[in-house]
Amino acid sequence: MKALFISLVVVFILIVFGCAADLTNADKPGALLWGENCGRCHNVRPPSSLTDSEWDLAVMHMRTRANLTETEAEKIVVFLKAAN
Ligand code: HEC
Repeated sequence: MKALFISLVVVFILIVFGCAADLTNADKPGALLWGENCGRCHNVRPPSSLTDSEWDLAVMHMRTRANLTETEAEKIVVFLKAAN
């Protein structure tokens, strides 16, 4: 149920912010950055798949792979930890 709710929130955010063409990466919320970046190379790992400390480590590694700024990576981690 929680996963469904989170999916709906993410879809909503993608729709709302996806239409705002002038939104720069710095303005994007973590959920959107996650949706846009973390499924490019592999299936997107659901927030519930890792613990808070595992997400710290995973995003630290993925930040370099995905070419994210520190702020972007931080927002993604905050989102993942809030949703796991
Ligand atoms: C440029 C390609 C690329 C992008 C973008 C990317 N990943 Fe990955 N990811 C990989 C590859 C390749 C692996 C497997 C090798 C590894 O673990 O380094 C992987 C593995 C993982 C794993 C498994 C690690 C483990 O220890 O089992 C997780 C979790 C993960 N990625 C999360 C993310 C998240 C979150 C993002 C967004 C911030 C992201 N990835 C973006 C390429 C990418």
